[in-house]
Formats: sequence, C-alpha cells, structure tokens
Amino acid sequence: MQPDISVKHLNKIYEGGFQALKDVNLEIYPGEIFALLGPNGAGKTTLISIICGIVNPGDGEVKAAGYDIRKQYRKARGSIGLVPQELNTDSFETVWDAVSFTRGLFGKPPKPSHIEKVLKDLSLWDKRNNRIMSLSGGMKRRVMIAKALSHEPRILFLDEPTAGVDVELRRDMWEMVRKLRENGTTIILTTHYIEEAEEMADRIGVIRQGQIILVEEKDRLMSKLGKKELRLQLQQKLDQVPGELTLEPIELSNDGWELVYTFDSQQQQAGVARLLRTLGDLEIEYRDLQTRESSLEDIFVGLVNEQSPQERSTE
Ligand SMILES: Nc1ncnc2c1ncn2[C@@H]1O[C@H](COP(=O)(O)OP(=O)(O)O)[C@@H](O)[C@H]1O
Ligand SMILES: [Mg+2]
Repeated sequence: MQPDISVKHLNKIYEGGFQALKDVNLEIYPGEIFALLGPNGAGKTTLISIICGIVNPGDGEVKAAGYDIRKQYRKARGSIGLVPQELNTDSFETVWDAVSFTRGLFGKPPKPSHIEKVLKDLSLWDKRNNRIMSLSGGMKRRVMIAKALSHEPRILFLDEPTAGVDVELRRDMWEMVRKLRENGTTIILTTHYIEEAEEMADRIGVIRQGQIILVEEKDRLMSKLGKKELRLQLQQKLDQVPGELTLEPIELSNDGWELVYTFDSQQQQAGVARLLRTLGDLEIEYRDLQTRESSLEDIFVGLVNEQSPQERSTE
C-alpha cells in the first residue's frame, strides 16, 4: 500500500542555526490514526508545518498522497487539511461562509452538500448562521476542523487538538476524530499527552529533540510498558537464540554477546528461574547479569520528566 505521508531523511535548520529536525523518516498509511508524541519543543509543529508546506523543508524528501511537496505543491497541499496549534478565530463571518470560503481557497468549486455534511458531522449545523467570534471555545475548535475538511482532503493534521482544553471537550474531540476516521480520513495528531496517544492512536511515533526515537503499533507499545528486562552478558557469542528458548520473549543483542529477556514485573520469578535453568542445561555461561525497567519505560519516564517544567510555564 502506498503511504499517504512519506518523509525521508528530513533535516530542518532554522535561520539562526537551530536544528529542529534530525534525519526524520516516517510513513503513514491510509486510514490510520497516527499520534506524534513528544514534549514541548520536540519539533512536532515544525514537522507538520513542513509536510503542509508552511515551513520550508531543509534537505530530504516529503510526499503527501504521493505528491512531492516541493515539486507538486498544489496537489500535495490540496490533499491535506490542517488544524493548526494556534487557533485564529476572531472572525465576524458566519460558520457557513467561513467554511465555504476556505474551500474556495483550495480552488475547489462550491459544493454545499459537502459543507452541510461536514457541519453536521461536527455538530455545527445548528450554528451555521452564527458568527464565529460569538461561539464557545469548543465550537470554535470544531469550526477550525470544518475549515480544514472543507476541500475534502484525504489527510487531516491536528496539531495539539486538546492542549489546554477541559476534560469534557477533550472527550468530544476524541469522539469526533474517531468518526472522521470511519469516513476514511487519515489522521495525524500531535500531542504531549501520553494518555491521548494511548487513547486515540493506531500507531505512535515518539519525537524528542528533533529525532523520531520510536515508531510502533500502539498495542505493542503498551504491552511492552510495565515490563522489565533481564540482560545476560555471555561468556561466548551466540549466533542465534537456542531452539529451547525460542518460545520465550528473548532476543540477542550486542552482536550475540548479550541475551535480553523481557518479562512482566508481576510474574517474574517463574520465567527468570526457568530461563536460568535452561541456560544451565545448555551450558551457556554468562559473566554478568542485570535487571532493569524496559527501555521503553525509560523513554516514557523521560518524556514525562521533560515535559513537566514547560507544562508549568505554558498551561
Ligand atoms: N521560526 C523558528 N525559528 C527558530 N527556531 C524555531 C522556530 N520555530 C520553532 N523553533 C524551535 O524549534 C524547536 C521545535 O519547535 P516546535 O516544532 O514548535 O516544537 P513542538 O511543536 O514539538 O513543541 C523549538 O526549540 C523551537 O524553539
Ligand atoms: Mg507544537
């Protein structure tokens, strides 16, 4: 399947020399909900803005719906809807006019039936004749989504859709995003809330200091959390995990000099004891061993710790 978004070896250095993205590689597939998770300042908005053609890319290749964002800009941009992080909603226009006008900006002919569907899907139909500036914060956010969907894009970007909103509105947003996906829209959202990524995403990409450090199916990611690792440094290098151990969650690392066993911290003893016994039977000797939280746990603890000082200043 051809990805809806494809980013290869993307670097971004802002004027002044700050490198905001470092060799980013990413593919997002049709119909996915993909969460880009990272602390403030990680580079989420920069990455989205480059894909949407708002910020100049550095080197690297970026495609949306198969179109190169530099060489085929209009086609690429036309397949994307963007709900930016900063909402600009002090408009005198009515909801209907604003959403219809935005469609026109993309060079699409008027299609009232589509605008009607979008407004109904977002529970904005009753408000279609209201001025945007008179709406509540939650309704304004819906209008921003409606504008982003006005030209029938197949890909929708939501940059921090729920930062600073109350719990009820957050749940509403999640519900809306799920509904949009049912219509076949590919959705990429950024967030610095782990719970949001967990709640919404099919896949999660973790970005930190301009680097994508992990991309994984949500379910796999979550099942690895709360696990521990036992690492054994071997006396002799192994070429493969011995057949007797292949049923265990065990991997070779460090060029075959280390065995890594992942286990649930709740029910550890049985598995570890069994592993050590089997190694004894196989006469596989080790120099040293350590147990620790899985590396994923480290990443997530790191994320939480990194975001806390900024959270205090921005929220
Ligand atoms: N126009 C700019 N010029 C220079 N640095 C910028 C600019 N925009 C963002 N940055 C820096 O790039 C980094 C990533 O920012 P951003 O993409 O907004 O992160 P996020 O959306 O993850 O919070 C931050 O350190 C930010 O200060
Ligand atoms: Mg941002």
